[in-house]
Amino acid sequence: MEFLPVSQGSLLRAAEVLRRGGLAVFPTETVYGLGADAYNAAAVAKVFEAKGRPRFDPLIIHIAAAETLEHAADLSMLTEETKQKLSLLAKEFWPGPLSIVLPKSEKIPGIATAGLSTAAFRIPDHDAALKLISLSGGAVAAPSANPFGALSPTRAEYVRDTLSEKVDIILDGGSTKIGVESTVLDIMSDSVKILRPGGTPKEAIEKLIGPVEDNAPSIESAPSTEGGFISPGQLKSHYAPKTPLKVFSREEIINLSYKKGIAFLFFDSCARDEWLKAQTADTPIKEVAIRVLSKSGNTTEAAACFFETLHELDKCNTVNSRNLENGLEILCIYAQFAPQEGLGAAINDRLRRAGA
Ligand code: TXA
Ligand code: MG
Repeated sequence: MEFLPVSQGSLLRAAEVLRRGGLAVFPTETVYGLGADAYNAAAVAKVFEAKGRPRFDPLIIHIAAAETLEHAADLSMLTEETKQKLSLLAKEFWPGPLSIVLPKSEKIPGIATAGLSTAAFRIPDHDAALKLISLSGGAVAAPSANPFGALSPTRAEYVRDTLSEKVDIILDGGSTKIGVESTVLDIMSDSVKILRPGGTPKEAIEKLIGPVEDNAPSIESAPSTEGGFISPGQLKSHYAPKTPLKVFSREEIINLSYKKGIAFLFFDSCARDEWLKAQTADTPIKEVAIRVLSKSGNTTEAAACFFETLHELDKCNTVNSRNLENGLEILCIYAQFAPQEGLGAAINDRLRRAGA
């Protein structure tokens, strides 16, 4: 496996790997992707093996220009109204964290879409990703570059720690900007549906094309890994840290008292301050791992460091037998829900599944 910083040379290397049917990990604006040539069934099969991902989970097809949809998708079946929506969405949100589900063309092998006749397409808002896609053949099938069910990778090192034996090359482009995966949108029926909340907020989509349904199954109704067709982002337990995690409302978390081995993950610093105020004098505050996702309570800022913060806290868990800066051991994470607006919807979705 090669681990290289993004450069013209490493992009050419990675593109060559993809063209030969290998696996290349690359940065996007959301999270790192584990890519294969989307037109090569054998290469796409390797993605499922590397991730330990069930074959019933379809991948996202990354393209570098909307024109590629002419080859990779079959737009002939779409109604005029849907075509209109697609054109508006692509113009406004591509490149960017929005994956749109469309009928696939015959060129995309069934394994990439888990046998579905549709595929989710997106143009990532990341120069290195766009160059790699263009150099490699125009369409890269890529899930997030983490072992199935684990936290999504927002840094190349996380991928190296978990998948280095399974991939051919990892391009290091630093921390990702958005920090949560793309929003997955189904525009094919009359009512547009969000299948997975993500980096493009529902409000922004509604402003452009009108009402959108939330169709990500609630955590109570979401199936577990066993049985039936289900998309990975919809599984009950997903995006999970190794450390057990419990999620609380703002009211609940500020009233919880300190316990040894608990890390507190606050959404904003106001909540943290209220929690601190409520603690008794003998609480060993210095020994409590406390993290705040966004000081000012900004959901975009919080999303950007969300997975990174969970990765960091996970390192202090006994399962990893590594300790925090002051010798702290974290046995459980208590996390605060974000407000259900902007990227808060994506954070809350990930928190619920991490806690399931
Ligand atoms: O931001 C992202 O989307 C990242 C980066 C690498 O682009 N990718 C990512 O892929 O998160 P993955 O495989 O972890 O998640 C794929 C999601 C699933 O939750 C699934 O719901 C949806 O895409 N999906 C893919 N194809 C679909 C289809 N044909 N119909 C419905 N949902 C689909
Ligand atoms: Mg994923």
